[in-house]
Parts: sequence; C-alpha cells; structure tokens
Amino acid sequence: MVLPVANDRTPLSWLDDVAQQRRDAGLRRELRPRTPAPATIDLASNDYLGLVRHQEVIDGAMAALRRWGAGATGSRLVTGTTTEHELLERELAEFVGAESGLVFSSGYTANLGVVTALSGKGSLVISDAGSHASLVDACRLSRARVEVAPHGDLDRLRDALATRTEERALVLTDSVFSADGDLAPLREMHRLCREHGAVLIVDEAHAIGVRGDGGRGLVHELGLAGEPDLVVTATLSKSLASQGGVVLGAEKVRAHLIDAARTFIFDTGLAPAAVGAARAALGVLRREPERATAVLDRARDLARITAVGAPESAVVSVVLGDAQRAFDAAQACRERGLNVGCFRPPSVPEGTSRLRLTARATITPDEIDTIETVLTEILAGAPA
Ligand SMILES: Cc1ncc(COP(=O)(O)O)c(C=O)c1O
Repeated sequence: MVLPVANDRTPLSWLDDVAQQRRDAGLRRELRPRTPAPATIDLASNDYLGLVRHQEVIDGAMAALRRWGAGATGSRLVTGTTTEHELLERELAEFVGAESGLVFSSGYTANLGVVTALSGKGSLVISDAGSHASLVDACRLSRARVEVAPHGDLDRLRDALATRTEERALVLTDSVFSADGDLAPLREMHRLCREHGAVLIVDEAHAIGVRGDGGRGLVHELGLAGEPDLVVTATLSKSLASQGGVVLGAEKVRAHLIDAARTFIFDTGLAPAAVGAARAALGVLRREPERATAVLDRARDLARITAVGAPESAVVSVVLGDAQRAFDAAQACRERGLNVGCFRPPSVPEGTSRLRLTARATITPDEIDTIETVLTEILAGAPA
C-alpha cells in the first residue's frame, strides 16, 4: 500500500532545496559533453602533453583492445591481469626510479588503496590541507588518527610527528597541488619523515610529464626517487592521456598492496585498452622529453597573459573571488572559443573562485595570440 504524502514534499524534496541554494550561490555544476574534434582551444583538460589523440597512443590502445578484449574481465587477482599490465608497471617504475609499481583502476583507487593498506587503527595519518579529495577520502577510510596540517606548514608537521604516541605514521601530500599548481616542500617533508620514522606518500598526478628530467616527476627532480620510506602515486589520466592509477615504491609495498589494498583486490582491473594507451604515451614521452619542457613554457605564456606569478607546473590559477564572477568569466571564455576550468567551493575555499587554466605542450603560437586577445578583454571586465 502506498501511503499518502502529507504535503507535496517527498523524501527527496530536500534535493530541490539544496539545488536552489546552490543556484542562488552560483554553485550549480553542469555536464557539457565535448565535441569529438575540439571546437575550442583547450585550457581546461589534463591532457598536459597533448597526447590524447596521438596516433601512437590510439594505436597502443587499439592493439591491446584487439589482443585482450574490451574489458579486464575480472579483478587483478582473478582474471584482470595481462602481461600488458605487468609491462606498464615495470616501465613506470623504471621511468620514475622506483623499485616497483602496481596499477590500479584509477588514481583515486590507488590513493585509497595505498593509504588504507599502510595505515589502520593505532597509526597516525597526517595530510596537507591542500591534498587531493582522494587522499582526504583515504584519510576518512583509514581508521587511523588523522591530523590535517595547514598547507605547507612544516612546523606543524614536525610537531605532529614528534608528539605522536602511535608507532606508525604516514604523511600525505600532492607534489603539485591541483587548485593553485604550487609545489609541496618535498625535500623538507621527507627529511622530517626520515627523522621521525614516518612514510611519505606523494601524489604526483600533476607532476608526472611536467616536472623533473623528461617529466619523471618532482620526486625524481629532487633526488628522492627510490627512497625506501617514500611512496609515489599517480594517475594515468593526465600526462599519460589514458585512464588508471599507479602506486610506485619498494617491492615489499607492492607485495603488501596485492595482499591488503581493498581497492586493488575488490575492483575490476584496468581495461587493457587503457593500459595500452598509457604504455604508448609513456613511450612517446621517453622519446620526446621536450614535451615536458614545452608544457612549462606554455604555462609561463598563460601566466604572463593573465598577470599571475611564475607558474611551477601546468596549472595557472586566476583568482576572481566571487563564484558567480568566475562562472560568468568562464562562460564568456567559452563563447569566445576558449575552454577554461572554473573552480568554485567546495573545490577551493570560499571567496577564491577562479579560472583555472591548464597548459598543454601542443598549444601553438597562433593559439597563444588568440588566448591573449580573449583573456585580456574578459579579465579587464572581471577584475579580482
Ligand atoms: C592530485 C590528484 N590525485 C588523484 C586524482 C585522481 O585520479 P583519477 O582521475 O585517475 O582517479 C586526481 C584527479 O584526477 C588528482 O588531481
């Protein structure tokens, strides 16, 4: 029997209320399918090296698809591992200077998997306040005591490590922070971890392909590759133009994750086509390391045009403040042929809504001219 509803409200009416509140605050989000051939200049995607349509990357995906089929068919531990997965793991580990690698179905599941498997009840997890949402969620799932250190605050990190009662401690950070594109003080963080017997987990999602010799990442650039108390995570969906994630570190970490990481064990393996694409993209990057230099050069062009400080990564953030103002400016860019990112709360703190521009190695000089004309006009009408 269906009971009559007392008034016109249903159990999901609250969704209409929060949708209205978001609309009023300029915070509604929309899905906009992209066109197959780019109709606008792309300053919003994470295709940092411009490889997503590269013929070798598409061929790599196709070859793996034809050989292994469309899906992984099962979890990595059952039927979801192919020789292609194992080759990718070895190639990625060799590229960043780690002992071993383990591929996950996404960067998100890689972060959840490694943090939960290396922490647990009775341990301490300290995360930088700017860490990616996947690391935040990993903290929540870890069952450890969690401390969030203010962004880049080394004193707080030292205190938290020195005063802990737990034997085991993990420290989590992005190497390149996704909202501002700034860098974590990895050398100092690693030194503190070493002094206090903690493990440092570094998410290199925005650094692989961008920082370091030939795009080997910030950990490699700082001479920290292969340190036994440091674990790297990365996504294959940005510079490597595919999908999936990876954890790179000591062989015993890999072995433990295979036994204990729930997002590895209870998740279908990465689809073979994605593995083939990532391997091919890595091959192109190895052969053409200048792509990593080009992406930072193009980021400098974007920073000059928008009069923001020198960028340390592919991310150039133009803070406009108000969410509606950022939304309107992004909309105006789109109408003039530029696709730009627009970050608003909760992705960034209140009052710091922004255009988020991402550089790509393959932006042409003509495109830079167009970007300059359009952004100069739009930002003149929407000053911070
Ligand atoms: C810093 C960072 N870590 C992890 C992820 C998650 O990776 P994936 O998209 O492969 O799940 C992202 C975003 O995609 C990211 O920006």
